[in-house]
Amino acid sequence: MNRATTPLQPAPDRGDAPVKFEVRDLVRTRTATSGAKVTAVDGVSFDVHEGEFVCLLGPSGCGKTSILNILAGLDRQNSGDVLMDGKPVTGPGPDRAVLFQEPALFPWLSVRANVELALKLVGVPPDARPDRAMHWLRNVRLERFADAQPHELSMGTRQRAALARALACDPDVLLGDEPFGSLDAQARELLQDEVQRVWVESENTKTFVFVTHNVREAALLADRVLVMSAAPGRFIEEVRIHAPWPRQLDDVLVARVVSEIHDLLMQEVER
Ligand SMILES: Nc1ncnc2c1ncn2[C@@H]1O[C@H](COP(=O)(O)OP(=O)(O)O)[C@@H](O)[C@H]1O
Ligand SMILES: [Mg+2]
Repeated sequence: MNRATTPLQPAPDRGDAPVKFEVRDLVRTRTATSGAKVTAVDGVSFDVHEGEFVCLLGPSGCGKTSILNILAGLDRQNSGDVLMDGKPVTGPGPDRAVLFQEPALFPWLSVRANVELALKLVGVPPDARPDRAMHWLRNVRLERFADAQPHELSMGTRQRAALARALACDPDVLLGDEPFGSLDAQARELLQDEVQRVWVESENTKTFVFVTHNVREAALLADRVLVMSAAPGRFIEEVRIHAPWPRQLDDVLVARVVSEIHDLLMQEVER
């Protein structure tokens, strides 16, 4: 089979899986420092099914962070509905972990203690915390940094610790707001591999929703990409990605998805 001439196939549709997030007519407005009203999110609707890896992709300022914060329960919409497992999202919860661009670790605690503190906060009994923390530190190959403090680590290693902390709490959903955005190319690649592996190993029990402005990253990670227009954000296209896991950027299917999405975004800019 010549992969270069095989047409892109839709990824297996997880439409049969229960709906994890149902977002309808979401609107979020803001007030700029000038006092002007800014529409950050302009009536977007989408579903995310259980076990999917969805990327929201769009240019800076199109409302990605606004949407993600609302899914996380860290912010509220002005209008529209956001349901998780059929119930309105009214605040944050242990069912959702968030990875931010800056790994938000407590600087005075070791990597291990950061993970154990998170386990305490989600109600894991004290005697279960050390083993569970080390299990996840090993899982993301961080065991040798368990007793290091965040300032002793590179940004990539800190973000890896934040990933271990998020996963140790066993959330149903992992939300990522450009968590690789401030990493150098090599650290980014390692973390992307780690995230792909964790999601594949969860065997469709965990739902990942990441936002990014990086077309390659979306094509590498997601099984469905929701492409957004420039501000105020609307969805312009949905792209399913069929490439097998683990994915590499030089995989022919991944490269073709990258150019397809790139063309879409260019058409949008030229409009
Ligand atoms: N706290 C805020 N106050 C005022 N305007 C904001 C605030 N947060 C975001 N915005 C505006 O809302 C729009 C969408 O922002 P955001 O959701 O951060 O987009 P993205 O994550 O895609 O870059 C932008 O125009 C931004 O300037
Ligand atoms: Mg953002």
